[in-house]
Amino acid sequence: MTAAAARGCGCALLLLFALALPGTGRAGAQRERGSLPRGASLAVEDHASDLLVSPDGAFACGFYAVSPTVFTFSVWFARSADRAVVWTAAASATARRAVHSQGSRLALDGRRGALVLTDYDGEVVWNSTAHDGAARARLRDTGNLAVEDARGAVLWQSFDHPTDTLLPAQRLGGAAGSGLVSTSRLLAAGHYGFRFSDYAMLSMVYDDGGEVSSIYWPNPYFSYWQNSRKIYNFSREAELDSSGHFLASDNATFDAADLGGAGVRRRLTLDTDGNLRLYSLDAGDQTWTVSWMAFSNPCIIHGVCGINALCLYTPSPACVCAPGHERADRSDWSRGCRPTFSNSTGGRDEKVKFVALPHTDFWGFDLNNSEFLSLDACEEQCTGEPSCVVFQYKQGKGECYPKSLMFNGRTFPGLPGTAYLKVPADFNVPELHVHQWQTDDGLAIQEDIAGCDAAAPEVVMLNVSSTAKMSSNQGKSLWFYFYGFLSAFFVIEVFVIAFGCWLFSKKGILSRPSELLAVEEGYRMITSHFRAYSYSELQSATRKFRTEIGHGGSGTVYKGVLDDDRTVAVKVLQDVSQSEEVFQAELSAIGRIYHMNLVRMWGFCSEGAHRILVYEYVHNGSLANVLFQSTGNSGRLLGWKQRFNIAVGVAKGLAYLHNECLEWIIHCDMKPENILLDDEMEPKITDFGLAKLLNRDGSDSGLSRIRGTRGYMAPEWVSSLPITEKVDVYSYGVVLLELMKGQRVSDWVVDGKEGLETDVRTVVKMIVDRSKRGDGGWVADLVDERLDGEFNHAQAKIFAQLAVSCLEEDRNKRPGMKNVVQTLISTDDESRDNEYPEI
Ligand SMILES: *[C@@H]1O[C@H](CO)[C@@H](O)[C@H](O)[C@H]1NC(C)=O
Ligand SMILES: *[C@@H]1O[C@H](CO)[C@@H](O)[C@H](O)[C@H]1NC(C)=O
Ligand SMILES: *[C@@H]1O[C@H](CO)[C@@H](O)[C@H](O)[C@H]1NC(C)=O
Ligand SMILES: *[C@@H]1O[C@H](CO)[C@@H](O)[C@H](O)[C@H]1NC(C)=O
Ligand SMILES: *[C@@H]1O[C@H](CO)[C@@H](O)[C@H](O)[C@H]1NC(C)=O
Ligand SMILES: *[C@@H]1O[C@H](CO)[C@@H](O)[C@H](O)[C@H]1NC(C)=O
Repeated sequence: MTAAAARGCGCALLLLFALALPGTGRAGAQRERGSLPRGASLAVEDHASDLLVSPDGAFACGFYAVSPTVFTFSVWFARSADRAVVWTAAASATARRAVHSQGSRLALDGRRGALVLTDYDGEVVWNSTAHDGAARARLRDTGNLAVEDARGAVLWQSFDHPTDTLLPAQRLGGAAGSGLVSTSRLLAAGHYGFRFSDYAMLSMVYDDGGEVSSIYWPNPYFSYWQNSRKIYNFSREAELDSSGHFLASDNATFDAADLGGAGVRRRLTLDTDGNLRLYSLDAGDQTWTVSWMAFSNPCIIHGVCGINALCLYTPSPACVCAPGHERADRSDWSRGCRPTFSNSTGGRDEKVKFVALPHTDFWGFDLNNSEFLSLDACEEQCTGEPSCVVFQYKQGKGECYPKSLMFNGRTFPGLPGTAYLKVPADFNVPELHVHQWQTDDGLAIQEDIAGCDAAAPEVVMLNVSSTAKMSSNQGKSLWFYFYGFLSAFFVIEVFVIAFGCWLFSKKGILSRPSELLAVEEGYRMITSHFRAYSYSELQSATRKFRTEIGHGGSGTVYKGVLDDDRTVAVKVLQDVSQSEEVFQAELSAIGRIYHMNLVRMWGFCSEGAHRILVYEYVHNGSLANVLFQSTGNSGRLLGWKQRFNIAVGVAKGLAYLHNECLEWIIHCDMKPENILLDDEMEPKITDFGLAKLLNRDGSDSGLSRIRGTRGYMAPEWVSSLPITEKVDVYSYGVVLLELMKGQRVSDWVVDGKEGLETDVRTVVKMIVDRSKRGDGGWVADLVDERLDGEFNHAQAKIFAQLAVSCLEEDRNKRPGMKNVVQTLISTDDESRDNEYPEI
């Protein structure tokens, strides 16, 4: 690793990520394998250089970096600009798991003759079936990863275990009954499947893994013959040929727009949004173009918006809550909306009314269906049936569909039928204006909260802003048509369409309209307590960022109160250059970290240019404030026991970051400002993991790129040595001295004019000299005078000795944080009996 790279990415990285990039420093180490012999393995640390590559160079196979800390074992298009992944090792289509950036291995196991993927701790994450005759693994020109015997016969192949992509020459289905499963943004399995149904009909299925499963392709309103399908051909096979022609055993077929084109690289992928797309690789700029897709109107795909919501096709898809409903989870549309009225509208005694939603349908969940009913009769059916929440009615044949759940809702011009939504008679469905305008993201819509609290008006008030600009003529006609029919529609009891009005009634207007886009589905709960917040949510939590409680190099911290009354510290980051996806992947790692001496991160917001972190609020402020403030009036002088406790807590927190937590994070900016104190004066380290979120462009790194604070930075920051966790040990040494003395080291050295690093050296030299001379009072001189001699001498001595060893210039001589914890704890035990020995 070069000096520049070490400084530039340096602390920004996980300790071992820095080591895991040999390709950037060791020129010529690139090693492309044609095959992996039995007994050999690939190491995640060599992911950039050690790859299996197909003979024609089109495909590569190896460890694929999802983020610097998260890897999968995958096959991808080696030349495409986005390195499109076509296959990922997974125990099953729905059980995908990433591995860690350090210690993970993929081996063609010598004993068993199977490919085995192990994680950092040796746990087997995935294996292929074992074959005694296995001789090697090879990546073929088709993109098929195959385990072969000595004569080249295939024993196992990745083509039999597809993930979300089908390649030309790869068979879908067959005996194994395999299909495609979509991938969510964090590389887990998504909710969409492309596979043969029980009738051997090739289908696209929404499956939430539990209650809801429904086919949305081919058209579920049609019978199989209307869809030009055959059923009961149980060969269940489908194949895409290299010319771009797709054919399945049930007669499902389609062609690429560029059908025939010789040598065009193609892939058929079930995308995250549930749409199936056929892509062609442009030989020139190596980007993908869509040459066929299953749906041009994504609202037809099931599950896009969750329950009690509607997909609005504008012509970009947008999710809105059904009238009288609000979003259940503001960061995740798949969780849908919940009613704002009491849901006890079922009882016969209760008066109900219906809100009409023209050109709207909720697919599925029919209680029963009837034809030739009048609207009144249909309404009566739903009124009388407690489980009915909505019914759809089609005028012509008087079709009536009472439904038990509002799911797969969609509304767009031309959709036949009107949905009638059941609400309590005394419930005022709020008025709403819908505006739309042109944004950088293209056409988007935004709900205006005006009139939410007003009494229900008698007429429909949908207002298209006169300044609205259309992105295209098609959009324009659609919109005018849309509003045209809305203003003319027929209602049972005249009420107002209130698309998601209450969604924003408490929060103010959306800061970014694309929040509505269902396709931006990626924000999801990562753990039960860690989630994405919207910008408007944080804006209201902090009352428009009113109370600033801190300010540092990485950003400004504000105090806020969330909806659930949790007090939080909201850190608005500056200087984050990472893409939303990488940012989220990194945070998903930090969000999992939990230790009592580390400030808990509750969530984040990444919208547009905003990158914001939400932390637990720690009441007593920073150690710097408490320690260095003149205590004249506040009386918050830290006693020795408290200081000792802080030293132990901080050491434990760092030891956890360095050794025990999965992600091996270097803090890189340890200083009293980043140690917070809770009600019990228990220390909590903050800002850990932040270094890797901030700018780490290593190319033209200079000293200005150094992360960290002068006076606390280890010498290797300015030398060419790689950055390891020992930089934190060094900074901890400085903190230890300051904790003891109650003063910044820089203030403490009287003639410290030469610079802060020299100050530290001067103090260390002084301590070493005086302790060597056996100068009796040297320990006492290092302790805060304000304590009036009330301290534990043995512990103070250990503090000083530890500080000296932490501040060793040679990082290899510094102890690890685990040793520091052990040393400190042992003095606690020894000294319990003689609290204040002679000084
Ligand atoms: C290896 O894979 C087989 C099935 O493919 C499975 O039954 C077995 O449990 C796996 N072994 C390990 C150690 O994962
Ligand atoms: C198979 O599909 C083609 C094209 O979609 C259609 O013309 C043909 O009638 C279908 N055959 C059957 C048996 O449905
Ligand atoms: C079933 O489909 C296969 C193609 O996958 C075809 O060769 C076969 O003739 C079909 N069988 C019947 C009974 O149609
Ligand atoms: C009404 O809502 C409660 C909780 O919100 C839920 O437990 C209950 O099942 C709902 N009842 C009906 C009929 O949906
Ligand atoms: C549908 O259900 C309603 C209410 O439960 C009932 O009155 C009606 O007769 C049912 N219709 C059919 C066709 O079963
Ligand atoms: C539409 O709303 C704008 C402001 O939001 C208002 O000025 C205009 O008068 C409204 N137009 C109609 C027809 O209500």
